[in-house]
Amino acid sequence: MTVSTIILAAGKGTRMRSPTPKTLHKIAGRYLVSFSVELSKDIKSKETIVVVGKETELDTRKALSDHKVKFCVQNTQLGTGDAVKIALKNLKIKTKHTLVLYGDTPFITKGTIRRMISRAEKGFEFVFLGFKSQTKNSYGQFKLGPKRTLIDIIEKNEPGYTSSKCFSNSGILLAQSNIITDLITKIKSDNSKKEYYLTDIAKMAAKCGYSSTYVQCKEDECLGVNSQLELSIAERKFQNDFRKKLMASGVSMLSPETCFFSYDTIIKSGCTIEPNVIFGTGVTVQSSTIIRSYSYIEGTQIGKHCQIGPFARIRPGTTLSEKVKVGNFVEVKNASFAPGSKANHLSYIGDAKIGTNTNIGAGTIFCNYDGKNKHTTVVGNDVFVGSNTALIAPLKISDGSIVAAGSAINRDVPPESLAIARPMQQNKIGLAKKIMLKLQKLAGKVKK
Ligand code: UD1
Ligand code: MG
Repeated sequence: MTVSTIILAAGKGTRMRSPTPKTLHKIAGRYLVSFSVELSKDIKSKETIVVVGKETELDTRKALSDHKVKFCVQNTQLGTGDAVKIALKNLKIKTKHTLVLYGDTPFITKGTIRRMISRAEKGFEFVFLGFKSQTKNSYGQFKLGPKRTLIDIIEKNEPGYTSSKCFSNSGILLAQSNIITDLITKIKSDNSKKEYYLTDIAKMAAKCGYSSTYVQCKEDECLGVNSQLELSIAERKFQNDFRKKLMASGVSMLSPETCFFSYDTIIKSGCTIEPNVIFGTGVTVQSSTIIRSYSYIEGTQIGKHCQIGPFARIRPGTTLSEKVKVGNFVEVKNASFAPGSKANHLSYIGDAKIGTNTNIGAGTIFCNYDGKNKHTTVVGNDVFVGSNTALIAPLKISDGSIVAAGSAINRDVPPESLAIARPMQQNKIGLAKKIMLKLQKLAGKVKK
């Protein structure tokens, strides 16, 4: 079946009370609207068009610049029917079916859309997605006919809306393109909101002798975001589902509810995640690695058998090969560690390349920034960098060398050399005793 997808995202989202457009709020690091864009890709849509508002157009275009989608602008939000009408006019490729998704409903699955497609293949011109709600809500209500047909959808505050629990409309719709294109122009705005309701199409279809049906999914799959509270509920659902998936795939978590992941986090089996760890976007962790508590990791590739944290901060552009250790209060940014290297305590490692089996001592600072530009430090294999050292980039420390503790190094270090850059120590024999005596005399404790 060939499908084009329309994603409705023109609403202002005033209930979010935020300067950010509603569908550009994020769940697990991904824009709300991107979930629907990904879904349209997953079902191999021939064309995807996002309906944006005047105020949200630029930001939405920017947010989706990596995606192959089109945009059309709905200048005034006259209702879902009007939004779909504008989108249909702007679709270039004629596909047999058109799918309508919402930019604020992120959890619809590919499986559900497939079920809708298979109902459409049985000859239904319109397939709506609905759910049975456990609680009273303000969603549109399905009015069903015989044999799983749908004869109308009643919006809240419209005649026929009941106060009892019933089948709710998710808003997602799969329709035969030529028929929806025809009927959409006939929708009127003679309702309490003076809006063009897309849902009126169910009744119109029935009148014209077309058949509508529905597919049922779970209520939480249709969860929509209209307020900050609902955004947090959606985030919680995502995180709970993700944690379950990770554990089912062999990742150990001591306190899963305290760990947070991004939509694209990959963690292989045999890893352990201690409590209170946060994964920003772009993190992959290979098997049998342990991430200790209070670590914050983003944009990082981590190899097998590594030990990270507690309290590690690992920032984008970092690659840690196998058996690497990054310990407490270590910040790493845009740096690579070859196998077996360690930075166990209190360091900043930025814009660096570190060889195999190298040890970065406690308190080492990679001075990568001169106030204007960033510079790189290359540290070779089997290097020992002593504690409390400043490595001033650009700098190269070659294989097998040692940097003495407390050094400030700004010249390259040749292979197998000792680099020491600190004032020479002097021991003045007996001088301490003399000084103490003098101080005590001054304080009047010893007779002059
Ligand atoms: C809609 C459905 C309702 C369904 C509910 C599910 C209609 C008339 N009603 O109601 O049956 O139960 O969704 O959430 O369709 N939008 C535009 N342009 C507009 C209006 C809306 O792009 O002019 C977009 C919004 O950004 C949003 C989506 O369409 O993504 C739904 O709009 P919303 O106003 O939230 O519709 P509901 O009243 O919730
Ligand atoms: Mg809504």
